[in-house]
Amino acid sequence: MAERFDLSTFREQVDAFREKIRAQLEHAQDLDTLQAIHVECFGRQKGFLKRQFREIGRLPTEQRATAGQLLNELKAWVTAAIERRRRELKETELSIRIEQERIDTSLPGAAFYQGAYHPVLLVRRKIEAIFHGMGYTIADGPEIETEYHNFTALNFPPEHPARDTQDTLYLHGTWLLRTHTSPVQIRLMKAHPPPIRAIIPGRVFRRDEPDASHSPVFHQVEGLVVDRDIQMSDLKGTIGLFLRHLFGPECRMRFRPSYFPFTEPSAEVDLSCLLCKGEGCSACGQTGWLEIMGAGMVHPNVLAEVGIDPEVYSGFAFGLGLERMAMLMYRIPDIRLFYRGDVRFLRQFESPLD
Ligand code: DAH
Repeated sequence: MAERFDLSTFREQVDAFREKIRAQLEHAQDLDTLQAIHVECFGRQKGFLKRQFREIGRLPTEQRATAGQLLNELKAWVTAAIERRRRELKETELSIRIEQERIDTSLPGAAFYQGAYHPVLLVRRKIEAIFHGMGYTIADGPEIETEYHNFTALNFPPEHPARDTQDTLYLHGTWLLRTHTSPVQIRLMKAHPPPIRAIIPGRVFRRDEPDASHSPVFHQVEGLVVDRDIQMSDLKGTIGLFLRHLFGPECRMRFRPSYFPFTEPSAEVDLSCLLCKGEGCSACGQTGWLEIMGAGMVHPNVLAEVGIDPEVYSGFAFGLGLERMAMLMYRIPDIRLFYRGDVRFLRQFESPLD
């Protein structure tokens, strides 16, 4: 005799399955297990629901609608139950991760290494800002130069003793390490017709024994103005304005006659001693003055060399040492301190970010 199959058997099967799934879900500890449960319910071949929907065909016709409803309810319940468990598992997983990755914000942080701006850079920026404000452009040129740009075009005759004071490393052929930023004057004047107003910061090289005030590598800022009717008074006015901006309104300056092959007349510019204000102290050798730069009117030979007519145009130029400026400004006693790379030294100077 065939086994009796009716709605109550069907209902028992559905209820038993629901309880089995309920227990399985309760024990499921990971998403893979949930996936397996999902397959057990909805799998295309062997999924319980698929099978049961087929079983409905064996029921008496009047019971089929109720059975279908039972299955639909089971389907809705299983779907929701799996989803609920999935959310629970995810939450536990998340709280475990949060626990594991917890950061104790009350602990002091690891010290974070902070560098500092080099005082030479700080002074360079101040100088650039002042001249930029006066309408100057900021230019640069190569550190490896030709003898022509470094000396010859600047009116240093080949055997002239002025070359001896600027001995340097001679490279292949006529190349050398530039001894000053003045060769960039030549490059600028050849590249641009007047008017020219530029400053040129850069690194220069000389055969010098290092001591408290000498370094074989150091930095300069060159200045160059070429236009019609440029006079010595323009040079003096410009330098005076620049120094007052940099060192304060009380500072004084003086021009002393000097010699540079590329300027005529040439001058050495002195600044009233920042320590004794001109009274005389050990910093200024009791003179009250500090030597800070060379300057002068661009020599007509130099203008002619670059193809600028000295009858029509004139110009002034100046050159200063950046390290020397920084030493005066920050009262640094030894130039060698700049090149040690010791952050304890470097951190003492104000930073533009402060
Ligand atoms: N180039 C000179 C040096 O290094 C400094 C200098 C003097 C530059 C007079 C100038 C200048 O432009 O006019 O010793």
